[in-house]
Amino acid sequence: MSGLASILSSYLPCCVSNHLYIISLSLLIWKLAHLDHDLSVLWATLTYPSWRLQRYFSGKVIWITGASSGLGRALALQLSNYPCKIVLSARRAAELTKVKAECEDNGADPESVMVLPMDSLEFGKLPGLVSEVLERFGTIDILVNNAGRSQRSLAEDTELAVDKGIMELNYFGYVAHTKAVLPTMIANKTGTVVALSSLTGKMGTPCSTAYAASKHAVMGFFSSLRMELYSHGINVCTVCPGPVRSNISLHSFTEDVTKEYNQDVQDVGRKQETDRFAYLMSVALAARVPESWISIQPYLLLTYIAQYLPSVYQSFLFSRGAQKRIKKFKNKECLY
Ligand SMILES: NC(=O)c1ccc[n+]([C@@H]2O[C@H](COP(=O)([O-])OP(=O)(O)OC[C@H]3O[C@@H](n4cnc5c(N)ncnc54)[C@H](OP(=O)(O)O)[C@@H]3O)[C@@H](O)[C@H]2O)c1
Repeated sequence: MSGLASILSSYLPCCVSNHLYIISLSLLIWKLAHLDHDLSVLWATLTYPSWRLQRYFSGKVIWITGASSGLGRALALQLSNYPCKIVLSARRAAELTKVKAECEDNGADPESVMVLPMDSLEFGKLPGLVSEVLERFGTIDILVNNAGRSQRSLAEDTELAVDKGIMELNYFGYVAHTKAVLPTMIANKTGTVVALSSLTGKMGTPCSTAYAASKHAVMGFFSSLRMELYSHGINVCTVCPGPVRSNISLHSFTEDVTKEYNQDVQDVGRKQETDRFAYLMSVALAARVPESWISIQPYLLLTYIAQYLPSVYQSFLFSRGAQKRIKKFKNKECLY
């Protein structure tokens, strides 16, 4: 009897602890498989509760381009929860005024939200626009380079003018705007430059070759700039969203530079909600996460595989999905 008791007493705790271990591991895997952001952003969400976000953004001057719709608008609304100063830029002044009104409905002081219409392709106007912001708010703490357009076309059919047009807006637009605000940030010895890239800027997407190239270019420029600005006390944050609900495909380039894709695909496929994206992005900015991946699954997991096992990703995983996307495009089905 005592032999049996001693066997049980040594076996049972080990058995229970094994079960606990398996249950904990399963819960952890389940949790990770449902994450809609990478591990750096997860850490930021744990360490930046709302009071800390409030404290970080308080009094900051934040200039957002592409603020008239989608991710830029959602970020402005998210930031309007904090006592900061927001500059809203894009081409459509009427839409920007609506976003300003929404920020005010959210509690923002009307004096703290500035509508500053601009065309990101008019590089020559940037010094004047920077002066307007400085005259109104005295400084620029955070620049969010977000204005952009996507593309839906096969490379073989696409005019070179499209490749150039996308680079001009999505890449040179960010570079020019950043260079225009850098002297202020360098003089202040502080600031944050944000660049919206995409998961496409990490791993490419068929039917979006020029877009993917522009987003890879953004990653290359801003990752290198981060190293140069480190000693100036300036942070550079690259943000890579997966699919987020927005109007991006309405204005996407096609094979013909004069024609927009003009398809509303907000409800095609699964997408992250814009508000959720904006919250996660605000946390990543407050925590100054250098590079964040914010996306629903399975895109997030695919990005990890593409990053760490590129050959596996190219050979087995992506080839099937990519061919499906190309087939859909050729069949004239709506493409996210
Ligand atoms: N939605 C997604 O799934 C997704 C995924 C990955 C990355 N992104 C990136 O996120 C950013 C925002 O995209 P979104 O989804 O919010 O698209 P969106 O709803 O179409 O917004 C694009 C914004 O860019 C502005 N814009 C376009 N051309 C401009 C120009 N020449 N000058 C100034 N502003 C211009 C537009 O404003 P006006 O028309 O008023 O000028 C609009 O405010 C883009 O850089 C995009 O590549 C989006």
